[in-house]
Amino acid sequence: MDKLGVLIPEEKLDARIRELGAEISKAYEGRELHLVSVLKGGVFFTCELAKRITVPVTLDFMSVSSYGNEKSSSGVVRIVKDLDESLEGKHVMVIEDIVDSGRTLSYLLSMLSDRQPASLSLCTLLDKPSRRTHEVKVDYCGFEVPDKFIVGYGLDYAQKYRNLPYIGVIE
Ligand code: IMP
Ligand code: MG
Repeated sequence: MDKLGVLIPEEKLDARIRELGAEISKAYEGRELHLVSVLKGGVFFTCELAKRITVPVTLDFMSVSSYGNEKSSSGVVRIVKDLDESLEGKHVMVIEDIVDSGRTLSYLLSMLSDRQPASLSLCTLLDKPSRRTHEVKVDYCGFEVPDKFIVGYGLDYAQKYRNLPYIGVIE
């Protein structure tokens, strides 16, 4: 059994997601927002956040994985499942669980920006800036986290712990 500690309890997550929802609703007032959720980790956050946004929301999902060797810094990610809908002319917000090295997001955002959205932004539940190797513009962030292995609320360790209702660390 892995030993788990609580880093961010459920109540703090709920409160912060509510704040982000209000902030995003205000920023996008009068517009429609197309949320692009990155599977699988981004899904729990996407659902909670979407419920707190008051402008009209549409949803799509994509799944990506790093190409080949984990340690390669090519920045190339493979699309495992692409979006169902076009992004053309839409106000698009990518929803992620965590920005770590920034490799996945820097590639994904540049790829999605080629699809002619009206605007493109990024909202991540967690940011681990100490590990950044690829620059990423984070527009909305729930919490900054230290350089520890994080699980819960969508984040996994060997596919486990995604369903924890809090953000934990493996000790
Ligand atoms: P990147 O290094 O920013 O490209 O992050 C790639 C992906 O690695 C993230 O979207 C997460 O799915 C995963 N990841 C990064 N840090 C952690 C962590 O602390 N726990 C679990 N997954 C992580
Ligand atoms: Mg992820």
